[in-house]
Amino acid sequence: MTKLLIASLLPLLSLTHVTAQNRIGTGKVAEIYEVNCASCHGRLLDGGQGSSLIDGQWTIEPTEAAIADAIRSGNETLGMPAFEGTLSDEDIRSLVILIHEKELLAQREAKPDPEFDKLVQTELYDLEIQEVTSMTGTLWSLDFLPNGDIITTQKNGNLWIHSSDTLIGPILGTPTVKDNGQGGLLDVAIHPDYESNKWIYLSYVEGINDEDGMTAIVRGKVENGEWVDQESIYFAEKSFYTNRRHHFGTRIVFKDEYLFFGIGDRGQQDQAQDISRPNGKIHRLYADGRIPENNPFAKNKEAIPSIWAYGNRNPQGLVLHPETGNLWEAEHGPRGGDEINLIEAGNNYGWPVITYGMNYNGSPITDIVEKPDMEQPKHYWTPSIAVSGISFYSGNTFSKWKHNLFVGGLSAGELHRLEIHDNEITSDEILFRTRDRIRDVVEGPDGLLYIIINSRSRTDSTIYKLRPVE
Ligand code: HEC
Repeated sequence: MTKLLIASLLPLLSLTHVTAQNRIGTGKVAEIYEVNCASCHGRLLDGGQGSSLIDGQWTIEPTEAAIADAIRSGNETLGMPAFEGTLSDEDIRSLVILIHEKELLAQREAKPDPEFDKLVQTELYDLEIQEVTSMTGTLWSLDFLPNGDIITTQKNGNLWIHSSDTLIGPILGTPTVKDNGQGGLLDVAIHPDYESNKWIYLSYVEGINDEDGMTAIVRGKVENGEWVDQESIYFAEKSFYTNRRHHFGTRIVFKDEYLFFGIGDRGQQDQAQDISRPNGKIHRLYADGRIPENNPFAKNKEAIPSIWAYGNRNPQGLVLHPETGNLWEAEHGPRGGDEINLIEAGNNYGWPVITYGMNYNGSPITDIVEKPDMEQPKHYWTPSIAVSGISFYSGNTFSKWKHNLFVGGLSAGELHRLEIHDNEITSDEILFRTRDRIRDVVEGPDGLLYIIINSRSRTDSTIYKLRPVE
């Protein structure tokens, strides 16, 4: 694919990668490789007595299952030893993930990150990427008011409104947030009947003491630059608050009289399978916070009645399909195994019993990637791209993108476009890669796509809009 003329570079360059992506290709699995495989396949996996495992050339069918089987069973004729008995299935699974990681690193090295052009050519459109506004700190989420103003959250607790050229805020009187680790002020969502009810929803991390915090949701109204009429929508019982600083989840989605949101596992992975706990779950409430009596576990006395689905590691993308009304979710996997799921009532999405990832230190979690009573992701990324906000496109400006799912990646800095047919994902295009972190993607009332990019240094954030070039 030829490149368009590079008009100029956006000010996003030069900062170093300091994220989970850095850890790929390292850790315990790298030692297992070193001891068992490097002598033949090369320390860099680039070949020796055995072939290169990272050049994209395979003798076997390069599915994950076939690669695992090649390692397990070997090939006596070709001189590939069998590792069954020497290595556990979990170790073999982690080697498969390592091979994918090293393959990606090799591809990146061969073709360094492109500069984030103002003009990029994609399969269906040439895009111009235009800066809307830039601010200090980490912007987390954005939504649009009916008049086209952008409302956006800053992780440190500030809520802002961008009204064409004026910046209103920080809005006074918003809740005090625990801005710590991955927590802070998170999602903002405008109620679909905002014109008549003026409700704005915020999700954030509430701290109850110096140590402990948990995901919470309130709604309120903005009048004359102030946050007023606040009502509680979701607060977990205090016993579920913890000092873990990660996996808070949340995006707020409205459907009919309901609202959906997710909470991450709060760093306690096994609790994602425990329906007596709110973490690692997708929840459904009425938009005023009451719990629907027909929720899947509402009649189970042991269960948290707001739970809609479970077994979710850290859901940070949640949207409704504009046509089917189905709920789609993006969740962060560990090292490998970021997922896109179609969320349905009562289902178990498997974390941490099944996963396509391994631990950050390269030790295995499990070799099991599927189980009959657990849902498979509709799509997954190994290595992880660190999925963040997602959005379906329903406008007319990019008519060829109608009902495609757009997915931002934090560590990868990529914006992905997924095509979906009959609830199956049929393609995954990387529209572009930046050197920074794509935090959110939202369709604007003007039919353009808006993205938030956080700098890797976390010092500033920029909102861009993508428009088609004639
Ligand atoms: C004694 C040398 C030797 C060792 C040790 C060894 N391999 Fe191999 N491996 C080979 C040879 C030879 C082949 C078959 C021909 C080829 O692809 O080079 C092979 C094939 C493979 C293939 C299939 C490649 C393809 O293109 O289809 C994979 C995957 C693989 N090895 C992974 C591993 C892993 C992972 C380890 C360590 C756990 C390992 N090998 C250890 C020699 C070795």
